[in-house]
Amino acid sequence: MSITAKKSTQEKPWNGRFTEPTDSFVEAFTASVTFDQRLYQYDIMGSKAHAKMLHHVGILTANELKQIVTGLSQIQEQIEQGEFSWSISLEDVHMNIESALTELIGNTGKKLHTGRSRNDQVATDIRLYLRDEIRLIVNELQRLQHALIDLAEQHVDTIMPGFTHLQTAQPVTFGHHILAWFESLERDRGRFNDCSKRVNSMPLGAAALAGTTYPIDRQFTARELGFDNICENSLDAVSDRDFAIEFTAGAALLMTHLSRFSEELVLWSSAQFDFIDLGDSFCTGSSIMPQKKNPDVPELVRGKTGRVNGHLVSLLTLMKSQPLAYNKDNQEDKEPLFDTIDTLKGCLKVYADMMSQVTVKKDNMKEAARRGFSTATDLADYLVRAGIPFRDSHDIVGKAVRLGVDTNRDLSEIPLAELQQFSDQIKQDVYAVLTLEGSVSARDHIGGTAPKQVLQAVNNARKRLANN
Ligand code: ARG
Repeated sequence: MSITAKKSTQEKPWNGRFTEPTDSFVEAFTASVTFDQRLYQYDIMGSKAHAKMLHHVGILTANELKQIVTGLSQIQEQIEQGEFSWSISLEDVHMNIESALTELIGNTGKKLHTGRSRNDQVATDIRLYLRDEIRLIVNELQRLQHALIDLAEQHVDTIMPGFTHLQTAQPVTFGHHILAWFESLERDRGRFNDCSKRVNSMPLGAAALAGTTYPIDRQFTARELGFDNICENSLDAVSDRDFAIEFTAGAALLMTHLSRFSEELVLWSSAQFDFIDLGDSFCTGSSIMPQKKNPDVPELVRGKTGRVNGHLVSLLTLMKSQPLAYNKDNQEDKEPLFDTIDTLKGCLKVYADMMSQVTVKKDNMKEAARRGFSTATDLADYLVRAGIPFRDSHDIVGKAVRLGVDTNRDLSEIPLAELQQFSDQIKQDVYAVLTLEGSVSARDHIGGTAPKQVLQAVNNARKRLANN
């Protein structure tokens, strides 16, 4: 990429009413081309559609349209070959491309901007760009969801401790736990798809703010660009950035989910939990401690949540108190949006790859569930079935757990005679409910952790992913 200030101020498309050149620092300060050149493809796409519409309504001749379209294609080629030289004095991607077109095809290039403003042009470019990026993000999200479903399917009956307050609570199946994250991501996917509908509305035709005196055909341009709707109010069209805020809010929520999941992966891969092994290719070592294998990928994803949350606050604050219609403030929408997109794509890609290579240490998970009195509630429910009120059974089991703690035994390891000192309702069949397998299998309803239900949930999740 080459950025120069080769053009003199005299060549700026708007300098007619100016007598003094722009201060060189101000020129660089107000320019956006260093970052908005990322939109070039959409700027060219929008310009071609606009030119076709101008021809359709009789403003451009067929020959002029042909020159413009061919010229724009050549410019796109130059940009993609790295042969285009971007100029700071031409401020942004829009003026750089328009000026290059005029240089290439002559005066006809100057007609392209008829009935248009950079205000509706930039709003259109960002929407076209974000529309494509959301598609890519949703694809990557689905790839991660597939990896989670596959992992859950392999572990519908793998037992682990379920936690509340990060203390062992009740046994759950690992497949069930993994599918909990599938559900969060499924809501994220819904949010992106929903946001995409509002992104896909066309500002072009609003011109600077009030519309244009030319007999434009906005429906024609919208069809050319594949927009579902046109923005109904010209003032709103050029100033609205809700769609970018909405997308970033969805992104912040997705990152928040990934940060929570990351926290679990970091804990689970520690020597203290030792529930999983993350593939070597997703970890790094320490330059001083030879034994270390650090879970850098989940740690970094957890850390990157901060910047995406920050971008959401930036965009909300950027729009706060802005009067109608376009204000230069809006130029500041791009960097937070771009970085949100880049961060999301990176995190989703690495997560989808990583989750398909996780090794699960079933024995360790089961042993942890066995150690934590995780079937205590099952014993309380057993006593309720024998006619004891729940509060009393809770107390009885609490005493049995106390004995287990004092003598370092799990409830299932305490002989019947000893358990019966707490209640004569405890019979030999109690051991069926004190086992981990008995405990998970008993939670046999939609949304429960029983292996049978988890298998059903795996199948449903696949169908939900395939349906849209
Ligand atoms: N670079 C500008 C932006 O990103 C384009 C629109 C500029 N419009 C204007 N009237 N100065 O918002």
